[in-house]
Amino acid sequence: MPSYRPSITELFNIKLPIVQAGMIWVSGGKLAAAAAEAGCLGLVGAGSMQPAMLKHHLELAASLTKKPFGVNIPLLYSKVQEQIDVALAAGVRIFFTSAGSPKTWTSFLKDRGCIVVHVTSSPELAVKCEAAGCDAIVAEGFEAGGHNGRDEITTLTLIPQVADAVRIPVIAAGGIADGRGMAAALALGAHGVQMGSRFVATAESSAHPKFKQAIIDAGAGSTMLSLKELVPVRLLKNHFYEQVAALEQRCATKEELTVLLGKGRAKLGMFDGDLDEGELEIGQIAGLIHDAPTVAELVSRLTTEYEHAVKNTPLSLRRD
Ligand SMILES: Cc1cc2nc3c(=O)[nH]c(=O)nc-3n(C[C@H](O)[C@H](O)[C@H](O)COP(=O)(O)O)c2cc1C
Repeated sequence: MPSYRPSITELFNIKLPIVQAGMIWVSGGKLAAAAAEAGCLGLVGAGSMQPAMLKHHLELAASLTKKPFGVNIPLLYSKVQEQIDVALAAGVRIFFTSAGSPKTWTSFLKDRGCIVVHVTSSPELAVKCEAAGCDAIVAEGFEAGGHNGRDEITTLTLIPQVADAVRIPVIAAGGIADGRGMAAALALGAHGVQMGSRFVATAESSAHPKFKQAIIDAGAGSTMLSLKELVPVRLLKNHFYEQVAALEQRCATKEELTVLLGKGRAKLGMFDGDLDEGELEIGQIAGLIHDAPTVAELVSRLTTEYEHAVKNTPLSLRRD
């Protein structure tokens, strides 16, 4: 078996091994295009978008950049087939799928000449992704913002185990927001990184300005993995989170949690800016985010920090 893994820059035809994560209500065409222009892989987050809205964002991205970009499709929503059809018709050939089985869509997309990457939160699922024919894997740890695995495997422990388990390239996600984190992830065996939270607080993201400010104000302990019985998701602690926690403390049923969650909570918080009643998906690394720069400025900073981190890491264990 070949031991060579193509680099992700080669795989996606991009300059830097950085993926701007697909994020519901946050990563539209503007953010994806800005990331692509900065040398990263930009992803339009299809999330719960109606197919027509997804078409709009893909056309917007294509109008703003000629560089490659892709789409993230969480497989838990009802319009997956339509979203995929719209993306294929728009000429997208890079698909990141998540929140479902890698078996469902990978061969369909591979048969249409696409690069397929699936998001995993365990080495066991990573092996299934490879068997399903994925070209690469996003290994996302417990620190990550948004939906998360149930097993609480941290990025530090997940990446080397996934890197040992598969031969396809591994993209590390969860808790990476600067060049030091990138260097650490690559040292653990990843071939690139996917950043979500860091890109939420950028000028080009569609997050509501109040949500961006809440991220800037957040500290290391401001988030919690919530709704574990329903769909585990890491959130900023706010009034909505407290309501969920109170229900969970008295062992509420899934039905009660579903009623409290209702519909449109994520939009209410992240897009409309209701910081009390909305669902505010963000990762533990929010504590390291202190501003909302443009994507170009952020990426320039990331490369400088990365080079600094690599240069200043004491590699030798010998004292003499
Ligand atoms: C606001 C927000 C929304 C997200 N939405 C999605 C999504 O729609 N699909 C998905 O696969 N992952 C989603 N994620 C997870 C990201 O794609 C990414 O893997 C994660 O943010 C990485 O961890 P980090 O936040 O520590 O950088 C979301 C994350 C955030 C913060």
